Amino acid sequence: MEASIWPVHLICQRVSFRSQYSATLQLPGHTESDRMPQYETFEWYDEPLYYDIIFDTETETEANFLELAYERYSDSKLSTCLEPACGSGRLLLELARRDWQCTGLDNNSHMLDFARQRLRKAKLSASLLEADMSAFRIPGKKFGLAYCLVSTFKYLLSETRARSHLECVAAALQPGGIYVLGFHLTPLPVEHIEREEWQAERDEVAVECVIESWPPDLKRRREKMRNRFQITEKGNTRYVENHWQFRTYTLAQWQKLLGQVPQLQMVAVYDFHYDIHTERELDQELIDAVFILKKTQAS
Ligand SMILES: C[S@@+](CC[C@H](N)C(=O)[O-])C[C@H]1O[C@@H](n2cnc3c(N)ncnc32)[C@H](O)[C@@H]1O
Repeated sequence: MEASIWPVHLICQRVSFRSQYSATLQLPGHTESDRMPQYETFEWYDEPLYYDIIFDTETETEANFLELAYERYSDSKLSTCLEPACGSGRLLLELARRDWQCTGLDNNSHMLDFARQRLRKAKLSASLLEADMSAFRIPGKKFGLAYCLVSTFKYLLSETRARSHLECVAAALQPGGIYVLGFHLTPLPVEHIEREEWQAERDEVAVECVIESWPPDLKRRREKMRNRFQITEKGNTRYVENHWQFRTYTLAQWQKLLGQVPQLQMVAVYDFHYDIHTERELDQELIDAVFILKKTQAS
């Protein structure tokens, strides 16, 4: 892979585009394998630093949005927040800095250790627990705000687990509290590989990231995902990749699921621009969806 195919003004921005892979130009004397680096497989959540560097580019924007959404939609006065699948803790750290009392859970111990260490280093605190986001209870606490962004919800591969997740979050929220849930809906028709590419750097560790999703299997409701990192640190460059499956949602499938959890009502919809002044319509144009779900007073 080249050092960067993006002009300087696009560095550190996520760039989304659709590409249809076609045959690439073959230079005389060069085979495809000469030009393509070999990617070793790795578990990106077991080495949280690189994930964190690359996803941290949006943390401030997302945290600003979460606070504005809370002000606008939550009836709760609690400054307590919950992040299911909190990962490296980038958002927990940012919200703890803003005086939120934060709780995060994740099923990956490496991610949780990373989150713990960074909070300790910043002399901040949050409750962190190892748990599955589709089967958790947080006794003795209620939350005014819960959130789960960047399509993490789509890791739950069955309707039962997805519904159970929503029920767990609803049980943890104070009545009137909100759940901000952001994930990609399936645009129809999808014929191309979708590709998102950006790069970031921290403390002389540079990471270039390419995330691709293949056209979904609409019957099985699965989309094949691949992430590739080019990591440059201490003069060495590593090429690593990981693969996973996401569950897919059309707007109708999402509405059907949400209808099974009456404790949560959809009160507004935004997109990944995280602009609190620009609500989105619930229509087929909506792809990068951020739903504001409110826990009903009666539940
Ligand atoms: C894309 S990262 C998101 C991390 C964090 N929420 C953020 O916005 O940066 C996905 C996280 O989900 C966690 N995860 C995936 N499936 C999970 C599950 N069933 N229960 C809890 N955590 C899960 C992974 O370990 C990983 O940390």
